[in-house]
Amino acid sequence: MSERRSPRRRRFLLCEPRHFDVSYAINPWMHPDEEVDVRRAHRQWEALAAAYRAHGHVVETLPPVPGLPDMVFAANAALVLGGRALGSLFHAAERRDESDHYELWLKEAGVPVRRARAVCEGEGDLVPVGGRVLAGTGFRTTPEAHREAQEHFGVPVVGLRLVNPFFYHLDTALFALDDENVAYYPDAFAPESRAVLERLFPHAVIATLGDALAFGLNSVSDGRHVFIAPGAVALTEELARRGYVPVPVDLSEFRKAGGGIKCCTLEVRA
Ligand code: ARG
Repeated sequence: MSERRSPRRRRFLLCEPRHFDVSYAINPWMHPDEEVDVRRAHRQWEALAAAYRAHGHVVETLPPVPGLPDMVFAANAALVLGGRALGSLFHAAERRDESDHYELWLKEAGVPVRRARAVCEGEGDLVPVGGRVLAGTGFRTTPEAHREAQEHFGVPVVGLRLVNPFFYHLDTALFALDDENVAYYPDAFAPESRAVLERLFPHAVIATLGDALAFGLNSVSDGRHVFIAPGAVALTEELARRGYVPVPVDLSEFRKAGGGIKCCTLEVRA
């Protein structure tokens, strides 16, 4: 049996989906003519916040803003590392106004923020693992922003190229399990990026296409508990085999916007 894995208490920023909707399409999951059940979305989001709190994590929220339906996806607004933040410059014009609201919240929380000069979508594409940041590009965040992140935080940034438009953010194709290991779906990456991942993480948990399509890689791990979409069946089994404790949380309503658990969660790292 695997060793007992220890959780680390996290501070999460979430944004209530009061104005959540799919009113434009900026990724292949989004179909504005498809109905969104706003009340169901709200219940699902409440269940996520409750699951985090039940496992000892601190959940804070910022007020949602009318006219910004994707603002619920807090992960995209910044990367917060070592008590400072790189604020996002969103790729889509429809999302650009979200940045001011998140930056205001962070500044009021005592976190200094610098806005990225190149297109950058926060933790959607910038995933800290141990002493590095894994950084996705191909659809949203640019290699210039990877360089900005490296300079801003003073940690090595490893660029990875995404190739499948359904997995347009790094956090739809990979997540950090702890400071040493990740789970990912290899085919979401260009061959040379796959080679980098294999070299960095020889013991990574490899997900299937079914896991990835169920948003199983859009998960949040505290080092022990993994908050994960219930549809990611194979991945959930493998995580349990490796000694992690899967905590299923269903955010199916948010999949209509191309989002899941991690997308709704910005970690505020001291
Ligand atoms: N509709 C949003 C977008 O396309 C969804 C963002 C999901 N967030 C994420 N971290 N993958 O920008």
